[in-house]
Amino acid sequence: MIYIEELKKIEKNINILIESIPDEFTRDETKRIINSGGKRLRPLFLILACKIGITDESCYEIAASLELLHTSSLIHDDIIDHGDIRRGRETTVSIYGREKAISTGGILSLFAIDKIISMKNERVSIAMIDTLETLCLGELKQLNERYNFDISYSDYITRISQKTASLFALSSTMGGILSKADEKTIDKLHDIGFNIGCSFQILDDILDIVSTKKIIGKVSGMDIRGGIITLPFLLLMEKDLEFKKNVLSITFQSQDLEFIKLIESVKKSSCLDEAYSISNLFLDKALSILATLGSSEVEEKFSYLIDKLYK
Ligand code: IPE
Ligand code: IPE
Ligand code: MG
Ligand code: MG
Repeated sequence: MIYIEELKKIEKNINILIESIPDEFTRDETKRIINSGGKRLRPLFLILACKIGITDESCYEIAASLELLHTSSLIHDDIIDHGDIRRGRETTVSIYGREKAISTGGILSLFAIDKIISMKNERVSIAMIDTLETLCLGELKQLNERYNFDISYSDYITRISQKTASLFALSSTMGGILSKADEKTIDKLHDIGFNIGCSFQILDDILDIVSTKKIIGKVSGMDIRGGIITLPFLLLMEKDLEFKKNVLSITFQSQDLEFIKLIESVKKSSCLDEAYSISNLFLDKALSILATLGSSEVEEKFSYLIDKLYK
């Protein structure tokens, strides 16, 4: 892995940061979640973007805070989505219940926000707060669309942009701001993070259909069972009116067999490959922007990561 050194430093900074969480329960629970795995993509995006200029210790401190912000969003996401397993382990909500998980996620996010604001970089702070608002609006949009399967492709893209791509875009934007890149470059870094983020959520949505708990460390098939329609379903609904009718008849009271049938139809169709192709288009876009940055190191390291996401 060509960014192994960066990942090691990110890990070290995350561990140091966790030790300073004042609330003992939140500290222990965060340690448990962090030690159970995770790809550290958001801090990595920040550090790789920083390589456009100078990377100092404060970049790693902010990167570690970003991972804690991501962790807090996962704690809350698992409450909303009824997620029992993540990274192959029980989630905070499934062990301690909703009340405790809400408080822990809240305390952790405020701790991370406080750390980032204390760096006294106004632009970074404003970007972070704006992004967190967007992320919450994305989760809310998804909640409002639950069991409403008649949504458009553009609704879907708005949802994944808000709930997922926004945090990736923030990560690479912060790298640009911290390394004092010029405005044009910061915009490009934003767009690179954003496009990879969209691709990433499409892949996560595909994996929910095709993968297993053993591989993804989460219970699969949860999106449609939770009333959340994702890209492969939307694509098949456009093509197959019988399938569309069956999807539209789903309610929260539907039997598991109905969900299994719908998932099997998607698996058998060409729509998974079409969804992979759409995910690849976002990666193509990111690569084309990368090529204009004028930094071979940033281009090489992001391209390595992008290559892993291509089907
Ligand atoms: C999970 O993100 C939430 C989504 C945006 C799909 P990751 O897949 O990056 O989660 P970890 O941190 O690697 O577990
Ligand atoms: C999660 O999207 C997005 C955020 C955490 C904001 P998902 O709900 O698809 O993520 P997983 O599948 O639970 O990781
Ligand atoms: Mg979820
Ligand atoms: Mg998912």
